[in-house]
Amino acid sequence: MNRINAHNLACPIDGALLVCHDKQLRCEHGHSFDIARQGYVNLLPVQHKRSRQPGDSKEMVAARARFLNSGLYEPLASRLARITSALVPENRKTSLMDAGCGEGYYSDTVFKYLEDRGASSGLSFIGLDISKPAILEAAKRNRQITWLVGTNRQPPVTPASIDIILCVFGFQSFEGFRHILKPGGRLVLVEPGPDHLKELREVIYSEVKKSRPQDLTPVMETGFSLVDEQSFQYKTGEISKHIIADLLLMTPHFYRTNKAGREAAAHLEVLDLTVDIVFRTLEFQNP
Ligand SMILES: C[S@@+](CC[C@H](N)C(=O)[O-])C[C@H]1O[C@@H](n2cnc3c(N)ncnc32)[C@H](O)[C@@H]1O
Repeated sequence: MNRINAHNLACPIDGALLVCHDKQLRCEHGHSFDIARQGYVNLLPVQHKRSRQPGDSKEMVAARARFLNSGLYEPLASRLARITSALVPENRKTSLMDAGCGEGYYSDTVFKYLEDRGASSGLSFIGLDISKPAILEAAKRNRQITWLVGTNRQPPVTPASIDIILCVFGFQSFEGFRHILKPGGRLVLVEPGPDHLKELREVIYSEVKKSRPQDLTPVMETGFSLVDEQSFQYKTGEISKHIIADLLLMTPHFYRTNKAGREAAAHLEVLDLTVDIVFRTLEFQNP
């Protein structure tokens, strides 16, 4: 069974601190949550669910795991690990959350990078996702990370207890993030740049628009300020039919395109793709 290494977990029903008792997390008001035998905890109460099976489906999670395990996004994951590592102070306990962690590829890569540099001993690392199938996969990747089913809208940790949040192509809830970041805490957003996967988009859409990372101006008025921005591009080299299919299934493009677009993608034999990513680091101070 995974150990629950995080000590700042909060009851999703009343916000009280959760304490580990044997195979459960309990709050002082009697709410209890089982630590599943796979080593994760479900902290998503029905009242926080907006659908019966929220988040990515089992099929999307499996496609993403196959795609990411192919190593095509390894340069992106390594860049994220370097950016994160530069934010982790030496000799100080650090609490980190990957918010919308999916099946845990980036959390695991970042954790191992920090571990290799001796920076994991004072580290509490939480991987949070609303999709239970995603967290079930993530729990297989790394037993030192605390894996939680929960929502970025109301992350189940105590207020002002997180030093660093990573949000990689994830659901961004700035309200949720503000609640849990310490003053001076950092939020690292990883988003598609203008040319991300443009070769695939040219096949599946009749008109291709440049995808811009979202405008953060309104967010800046709520205590966040931009402290770093980096663009990162590379080409994958030719990728095969099966990997193209997995890539399409794991992205929102699968639902955004129409039947003709999906069929055009299915006829592709190979594709050389542009990966174009923007990393933005925001600092949080209470306004
Ligand atoms: C595009 S995927 C990215 C997953 C992962 N970060 C990656 O890049 O491999 C978006 C993820 O956000 C999750 N998600 C959607 N809504 C969420 C919410 N309200 N809170 C937490 N996670 C959410 C989905 O289940 C999915 O795993």
